Amino acid sequence: MQPEPLLSLSGVAAYYGNLCAVRDISVDVRPGETIAIIGPNGAGKTSLLRAISGVMDRVRGTIRFQGAEITRRSPQQRVGLGLVHVPEGRHIFTAMTVEENIRIGGFLRRDADRQASFDEALSMFPRLTERRHQLAGTLSGGEQQMLAMARALMARPKVLMLDEPSMGLAPMIVNEIYRQVRLLRQRGVTILLVEQNARLALENSDRALVLATGTLRHEGPSSGVAQDRSLGSLLFGT
Ligand SMILES: Nc1ncnc2c1ncn2[C@@H]1O[C@H](COP(=O)(O)OP(=O)(O)OP(=O)(O)O)[C@@H](O)[C@H]1O
Ligand SMILES: [Mg+2]
Repeated sequence: MQPEPLLSLSGVAAYYGNLCAVRDISVDVRPGETIAIIGPNGAGKTSLLRAISGVMDRVRGTIRFQGAEITRRSPQQRVGLGLVHVPEGRHIFTAMTVEENIRIGGFLRRDADRQASFDEALSMFPRLTERRHQLAGTLSGGEQQMLAMARALMARPKVLMLDEPSMGLAPMIVNEIYRQVRLLRQRGVTILLVEQNARLALENSDRALVLATGTLRHEGPSSGVAQDRSLGSLLFGT
């Protein structure tokens, strides 16, 4: 028997004003899965994550998390439930230190384990530990991505949404970041992984959603997508 979905989207459409960026998407995400969300520029990948996070102008359809409908919940409530988004472009607080940025990730938490989570998040990436007192605005792009991920972990994600974690980064840094993605998968964190680099996303996921112009073109095991010739031109330009 399949486990109950952790997150479930039914007929979800999302808008910027009158522009429909995501059309009629239905998908179930099971606990512990990593789902790659791939497709060309403008396909609606970021908008889909934003719909789940509750920051789109308007969303139609139904989003359920752990069995409860959350379609009208505020973004903050969703973070509190464990839906945590590392946005495209990272959006760290440049005038604050590395440590301060990480602590902000736990702003909704009142529990006694916060300090332990902070220590763990800071130690995820040795580069962050070394730069703990440095202003975040002076970090390199790769270090900023690491910081955005460490900050997200402070919120104890049940579903971690990563939007283009490899964007603009050198291969060595991408490796460091994906090493952590693999560790999080091993720990059972459910991950929605948006990537321009389809191969990288497929190698690091269980299942894939292929989007184009806001619609779901294909859904299936990641291993199959890489071999599907009909998706080749859409994803790999072949
Ligand atoms: N803030 C916005 N206001 C209006 N339209 C937007 C906004 N952000 C995105 N769009 C439009 O929504 C559609 C989907 O964009 P989205 O950013 O979700 O695509 P994407 O798949 O993430 O693309 P990319 O790979 O380039 O990041 C596009 O047509 C885009 O022009
Ligand atoms: Mg995007």
